[in-house]
Amino acid sequence: MTDSAYQKCINPACGAEFDYGQTLFKCPACGELLDVQYNWDKVRLPNKLSEFAKRWASRDNPLDFSGVWRFRELLNFCEDKYKVTIGEGQTILQQNDAVAGYADMHPGCLYLQYEGLNPSGSFKDNGMAAAFSHAKIVGATSSACASTGNTSASVALYAHHCNLKCTVFIGSGRVAFGKLSQGMDYGAQTIQIRGDFDDCMRQVQDVCAELGLYLLNSLNPFRLEGQKTIMYRIIEGLGWQVPDWIIVPGGNLGNSSAFGKAFSELKQLGLIKQIPRMAIINATGADTLTELVNNKKLTWNAGKVEQAIIDNYYADLTARNFSPHTCASAIEISRPVNLKKCLRAIHICNGVVRAVTDEEICDAKAIIGKFGLGCEPASAATIAGLKHLRAEGIVEADDRVACVLTGHPLKDPNLTINYHKGKKGKFSNPPIEAPNDFDEIIKLIK
Ligand code: F0G
Repeated sequence: MTDSAYQKCINPACGAEFDYGQTLFKCPACGELLDVQYNWDKVRLPNKLSEFAKRWASRDNPLDFSGVWRFRELLNFCEDKYKVTIGEGQTILQQNDAVAGYADMHPGCLYLQYEGLNPSGSFKDNGMAAAFSHAKIVGATSSACASTGNTSASVALYAHHCNLKCTVFIGSGRVAFGKLSQGMDYGAQTIQIRGDFDDCMRQVQDVCAELGLYLLNSLNPFRLEGQKTIMYRIIEGLGWQVPDWIIVPGGNLGNSSAFGKAFSELKQLGLIKQIPRMAIINATGADTLTELVNNKKLTWNAGKVEQAIIDNYYADLTARNFSPHTCASAIEISRPVNLKKCLRAIHICNGVVRAVTDEEICDAKAIIGKFGLGCEPASAATIAGLKHLRAEGIVEADDRVACVLTGHPLKDPNLTINYHKGKKGKFSNPPIEAPNDFDEIIKLIK
């Protein structure tokens, strides 16, 4: 079964291949990112995607219940006995006309993919189901990650389930309270570094190399295989059709990379006819991708990415002692590790990149809360970004758009309370102080 999978360097000039059973987070030959690749002729694939629907009838089998593993033929690197699941991927694609109106879309055209409904409250669980399965294949006993919060919560939950030790690295004061509380509750060893996410990311890679810990950041190519399934579920939610647009927040750029790979594989396999376009939305306070793609014109360029543009940009960040700042703490990242894979995804999906302000994010979040199921700030960047793309006429009002709402509203209660109580936001809904008096209360409500 698993002779179908191997790891391959994304750099076409290198293209080195490695066994799927190796624990590698960068190409040992050239240092670039790795992909999981498949010999598709050895995989028993469905003739059409709708054939996956029959697994709903056998969901007493945990692998058919999992929103990741019920698409297992499309991430075929693992024997069943190693597959890890805690019931991830039971997420909802909601058509939402009120939010559509806010974003100037026609009714019936906007869909919200609620990944906050995962067990740890974010999309990360899709990736962890796959990555922890690989950790089991290689016999890992200790796991680690750097995180803006959600990865740490998800890693802690899965590590605990798989009996692995777990250490998470977070930037001091940079993680929303809901996420911080989860890591502690799920028993992770939490190392709070005096620095930001990018500092944590650098440290964790060195620490993993030194101590032989299994790394669960999205550098891990097996994690991204799990995140491909978010796209399969959107297609499923649309009656096995692809939307015109996928909109996703951009942080470390794992999702956008995984989505591009998912669509390119589905197209190659003849399982979809058309690849949707993708919009990746940064916060203006953490807008490396926007700067590099829109201003410095960085492209995938058939794999010959102009490294000098990236190096110069990062050197400038260092010279300015720049640290990213946005209220959407999940995407407060200035050196995204999956940058090159994301450039490839932009090429595959004819993608665009935009940055939105914290104010736009908070207002969009309030609208998604009021009219939808709610989400955390980073997720709301999608709707704020969609508003920009509508104003520019890049997205049409009757295009079919799916926004990936990556995290649950309770992840960051402080931001929500400050927005509403502070009465500063356009859609603030503060609590009303009332005396302990029946008549006065009645007057207030009438
Ligand atoms: N949305 C949420 C809620 C996130 O937690 C993250 C990333 C993103 C979007 C960005 O996704 O990295 O795939 O571009 N959170 C990571 C973490 C960095 O550590 O929890 P990406």
